[in-house]
Amino acid sequence: MATDDDKPKGPDLSQGIPASDLAEGALLTGQVGGEEVLLVRHGGKVSAIAAHCTHYHGPLADGLVVGDTIRCPWHHACFSLASGEALAAPALSPLDCWNVEERGGKIVVAGKKEQPAPKKTGPASERIVIVGGGAAGFAAAEMLRRRGFAGSITMLSNDDAAPVDRPNLSKDYLAGSAPEDWVPLRGDDWYAQNNITLKLKTDVATLDPRAKKLTLGDGSTLAFDKLLLATGAEPVKLPLPGADLPHVHTLRSLADSRAIIAQAKKAKRAVVIGASFIGLEAAAALRAREIEVHVVAPEQRPLERVFGPQLGDFVRALHEEHGVKFHLENGVTAIGVGNVTLKAGGTLDADLVVLGVGVRPRLALAEKAGLAIDKGVSVNEYLQTSAPGIFAAGDIARWPDPLTGERIRVEHWVVAERQGQTAARNMLGERVPFRAVPFFWSQHYDVPINYVGHAEKWDAIEIDGDVMKRDCIVRYRLGGRVLAVASIYRDGDSLKAAAEMEKRVAAA
Ligand SMILES: Cc1cc2nc3c(=O)[nH]c(=O)nc-3n(C[C@H](O)[C@H](O)[C@H](O)COP(=O)(O)OP(=O)(O)OC[C@H]3O[C@@H](n4cnc5c(N)ncnc54)[C@H](O)[C@@H]3O)c2cc1C
Ligand code: FES
Repeated sequence: MATDDDKPKGPDLSQGIPASDLAEGALLTGQVGGEEVLLVRHGGKVSAIAAHCTHYHGPLADGLVVGDTIRCPWHHACFSLASGEALAAPALSPLDCWNVEERGGKIVVAGKKEQPAPKKTGPASERIVIVGGGAAGFAAAEMLRRRGFAGSITMLSNDDAAPVDRPNLSKDYLAGSAPEDWVPLRGDDWYAQNNITLKLKTDVATLDPRAKKLTLGDGSTLAFDKLLLATGAEPVKLPLPGADLPHVHTLRSLADSRAIIAQAKKAKRAVVIGASFIGLEAAAALRAREIEVHVVAPEQRPLERVFGPQLGDFVRALHEEHGVKFHLENGVTAIGVGNVTLKAGGTLDADLVVLGVGVRPRLALAEKAGLAIDKGVSVNEYLQTSAPGIFAAGDIARWPDPLTGERIRVEHWVVAERQGQTAARNMLGERVPFRAVPFFWSQHYDVPINYVGHAEKWDAIEIDGDVMKRDCIVRYRLGGRVLAVASIYRDGDSLKAAAEMEKRVAAA
């Protein structure tokens, strides 16, 4: 049901506003023909764009203008102010843009701009194959077509579902507050419309980098000119007695999330093994389904290794407020039909067990093919592997981080998508280095935590605001340098921190 909140607000921009109402750097929301439009004055120009992000509808009026781009406050998507193009994930669709005129002391917004069709590029005979139907693989395919790649694109995935919004699988979808039709990244017809051959339930068994050929699980072969490896990661399975019982689940795919939901419908008590991001997000989702949840984990504080003690304590307190019971500095030694046995002694009843003890990158294909491996598939700044014409992106890729000069591998949705996009451009011969500042978000109940940068270790944590009051920015420093910044409800500060790090990368 439409409410007053859904109605576009602000002045009718087709009637014009005084030019003096929009100072340099200002953002102003108004409406045109019933649609909410954001006016931005930047570098002397005025742009008129849709007021909400095409990812999850974040309010761009709260975003940050950086040069000729605007960044979304929620998950840092980056859009061109001139064309509306979604330049950097997680948004993949462009913003609508309107023509603007400045005359007689007024700014007047006229009709919508047409999105130009991409010019065809590359020989039509060229074959690009993508192994993996996840974040990186999908974003690469989308970018190839967006840039007008004229050749064939084949995407191979051993999943049975077309690419999905994986972060949703442990959040709203699992909690029952998002319908399943929100989960696919694109509808089934999108692949045919974009001439992308998507082969699901297709396992790639081997890769011959010299012959530029893949062998599939059914023994058939597929030749390519360029290849993107984006095989992602798989959940670690503990070698526990009872770990293969039907009520024990890991969470990676849509099928996994569906299976947990099916079990949750008849479960009363769940044990989550592991206080990882996925384990804790699953705990929150199961609490939303009014299931009693116990979390068993070896660490002293949840997420302390990534966030430090203060945010770790906050995350624990937040979950406890919602009724989650923690059994920390503990473990599970066996899983039975109706309970789990704890390392420290005793049992916990459980008719649903979720294993959230981390993931392992799927490297087997690259390893067997003889590609250079170093705790991940080694890639250069262009995301090219040690074999010509073969690129890697996402959870498997270990790349040189321009901020620290170290090689890093991360397991973040936005990084995987942005790497897929960069790899796509490089497969088209553009030679763009991957220089994005890492970003991830995690959501626990109604509290989002955003994180920019990458800090495996730090010697100081600096907190601005109040963590327990859910209003803070936390800086992780090493030798005085800020390596990463976590934040709760400080979206503007988080965007500024990312822009600051981008400047350091550009200067590096
Ligand atoms: C439940 C869940 C919630 C998450 N939430 C967040 C979040 O809130 N924020 C965040 O930053 N990150 C989150 N992540 C992490 C994020 O989803 C990953 O970092 C991201 O999906 C990695 O993308 P990828 O393309 O590398 O791999 P994936 O998305 O895992 O895709 C890999 C693909 O490769 C296919 N594949 C693998 N091997 C083969 C083979 N041999 N043959 C054929 N196909 C193969 C798989 O079937 C799959 O389609 C979450 C992850 C999960 C599981
Ligand atoms: S809502 Fe804009 S990036 Fe997610």
